[in-house]
Amino acid sequence: MLYLVGLGLSDVKDITVRGLEVVKGAKRVYLEAYTSILMAADVSSLEEFYGREVIVADRELVESGSDQILEGAGKDDIVMLVVGDPFGATTHTDLMLRARELEIKTDVVHNASVMNAVGACGVQLYNFGQTVSLVFFTENWRPDSFYDKIMENRRLGLHTLLLLDIKVKEQSLENMARGRLIYEPPRYMDIRTAAEQLLEIEEKREEKCYTPETPCIAISRLGSPTQKFAAATLAEMAEYDSGEPLHSLVILGNRIHELESDYFMQWAINESTLKSALVEDGKLHK
Ligand SMILES: C[S@@+](CC[C@H](N)C(=O)[O-])C[C@H]1O[C@@H](n2cnc3c(N)ncnc32)[C@H](O)[C@@H]1O
Repeated sequence: MLYLVGLGLSDVKDITVRGLEVVKGAKRVYLEAYTSILMAADVSSLEEFYGREVIVADRELVESGSDQILEGAGKDDIVMLVVGDPFGATTHTDLMLRARELEIKTDVVHNASVMNAVGACGVQLYNFGQTVSLVFFTENWRPDSFYDKIMENRRLGLHTLLLLDIKVKEQSLENMARGRLIYEPPRYMDIRTAAEQLLEIEEKREEKCYTPETPCIAISRLGSPTQKFAAATLAEMAEYDSGEPLHSLVILGNRIHELESDYFMQWAINESTLKSALVEDGKLHK
């Protein structure tokens, strides 16, 4: 059997009871370690808590080495641990499909995901549109396709959850060209970079999808003891120090229920600026 087991958002102990039982009984346990991180744990603390070896699976192994992962899964249990929920934003459907092709049974042990825990910032999950991923811009690659998706959400008055890029085990262009297996330190996009990139694309497109005054909520280290929210305009977010990763950003839609604003006002960096920004933003996309 192939099991995908969600680890939840932060602590080694966020695994579910069923997830832990599956891990303890498996032949091999892999940790998918490139789409998210467990903020208060690492491989050795997982190994200590489970009392067994955990094999780190990088992108290459998960995407190109599925047969290696699935070896023996016809008779033994193999586990792939995924931070958050296995189907929250990162869909491991490729691995599941390959297992089914090989007639290996599959099962999923779900857990909390950023996709649902984001509700803790005070806006209703019902009022979100499409989720968008924001990648790090490089000197000559500044993709803006996210802009159209945010526009579709904003035209319907819906909130947009932006998941921010993570770069783990990346090679510099030079090292790649020279075939040197030297990896750059991990990088996690912070709120300031996300806001700057969003504002740059609005300046380029000028379609008023959002403006520097558009109200947003910054979500940092959700589900961890240092979880933090901040509600502010996009321009204020470009100055905001969000601290340690991980971070996500919500661009608010303008169909805001009073119960939502009553709740998220407690995170306001500047309450009067935010209140007038909410009124102004209400006039866009009408
Ligand atoms: C590709 S998604 C993976 C989601 C994961 N499978 C889940 O279900 O939560 C990773 C991105 O989600 C966001 N994210 C994940 N966990 C987070 C957390 N605890 N706090 C804030 N943002 C988080 C970050 O933007 C991160 O780069």
